[in-house]
Amino acid sequence: MDFFNYKDQQLFAEDTAVADIAAEYGTPCYIYSRATLERHWRAFDSAVSTHKHLICYAVKANSNLGVLSVLAKLGSGFDIVSAGELARVIAAGGDPAKVVFSGVGKTPEEIAYALDVGIKCFNVESIPELERINAVAKSLDKKAPISLRINPNVDAKTHPYISTGLKANKFGIAHEDAIATYLKAQTLSHLDIKGMDCHIGSQLTDISPFVDALNKLLSLIDELATLGIHIDHLDVGGGLGVVYDDETPPHPNEYAAAMADCMKGREHLTLILEPGRAIAANAGILVTKVEFLKQGEEKNFAIVDAAMNDLLRPALYSAWQKIEAVSVREGDTEIYDVVGPVCETGDFLGKARSLNIAPNDLLAVRSAGAYGFVMASNYNTRCRPPEIMVDGDKAMLVRARETVEQLFENEYTVDG
Ligand code: LLP
Repeated sequence: MDFFNYKDQQLFAEDTAVADIAAEYGTPCYIYSRATLERHWRAFDSAVSTHKHLICYAVKANSNLGVLSVLAKLGSGFDIVSAGELARVIAAGGDPAKVVFSGVGKTPEEIAYALDVGIKCFNVESIPELERINAVAKSLDKKAPISLRINPNVDAKTHPYISTGLKANKFGIAHEDAIATYLKAQTLSHLDIKGMDCHIGSQLTDISPFVDALNKLLSLIDELATLGIHIDHLDVGGGLGVVYDDETPPHPNEYAAAMADCMKGREHLTLILEPGRAIAANAGILVTKVEFLKQGEEKNFAIVDAAMNDLLRPALYSAWQKIEAVSVREGDTEIYDVVGPVCETGDFLGKARSLNIAPNDLLAVRSAGAYGFVMASNYNTRCRPPEIMVDGDKAMLVRARETVEQLFENEYTVDG
């Protein structure tokens, strides 16, 4: 559930009218709801409350400092994939001791930084990475806490670009190599084996792939125990889906209940979850203004001031996100493709949408809080939009709109 609702045909973010925010900060703009972020985070935290656990919000979903600071104040941990994300977590008041570091290509500099600030664990994806972490830890005279990301080879049944747990994916260590890789890790002097992890994909709407993956990991943990390798935490990754349209993803409670069944008798294992989308997606909208209505030969187009550079998901994954008028007009609707001004045929936010709109009307693209701003670019030298956090009847700027000067401040003309 989120806190974007209509009152008298006007869209509100909590107790603040979206049209008022657009009037103040201009369009396009991203608007986030603090109450929604908090509600979603707490849904995970309470779902697994009967077990030792840590919710490590996946920073990649939305890394704005305002968003991270809201979650840090709740005591959240964080799943990061770069030194940049780690710096953001720290700048937002997050605790490095609650950070897990995922990703296939950690550089020596990133590893040293993470060791220096004392993260909770490296989620390691290959033997060369194990060796690199060991070498960096040795040079700093530290022991690096590690977990191995196991690829359980389960089909997450999601979009192929965001499915990660199959053999054909670049992620993780093959299930059949898991034991040998733990034995290898045990021989490296500056590693401390702490955990096991997996992440099988994103926008999963079915529980069974999670359960299959979890059971595969638990049997590996048992096998390791017989070899004298004891695992303290099990990190099940992120991936729980959200409602964009008519999907019926499980509630965190159902997800947790299914896991609890598998985890019976394993109270010593701390459970780590890395939700990103399920916390942030429906806590955000992208607000855009209709510039022109254009009647094409076959279709009507609503040309708006946001584009694929601001919200890439529709263009990249053919993702469907709901588009609604911020102020609802009475009367008949027409069918529009909602498109941006970027010079690409793939530049659309939605196709064949039924809307009753006129130029200068505001539209809200829903479910834009995750993988929205973070995937924005400056293509066509377009400035990325501002981000605004709503808290009840207050709206605060958490990132200002970029200026054109900022876009080329690090560029140089060629002399001569
Ligand atoms: N942990 C790891 C290791 C991940 O790779 C991801 C997401 C997550 C956690 C968080 O997954 P979530 O709970 O958000 O599903 N750009 C795509 C999504 C890419 C997800 C990548 N990994 C999209 O817009 O749909």
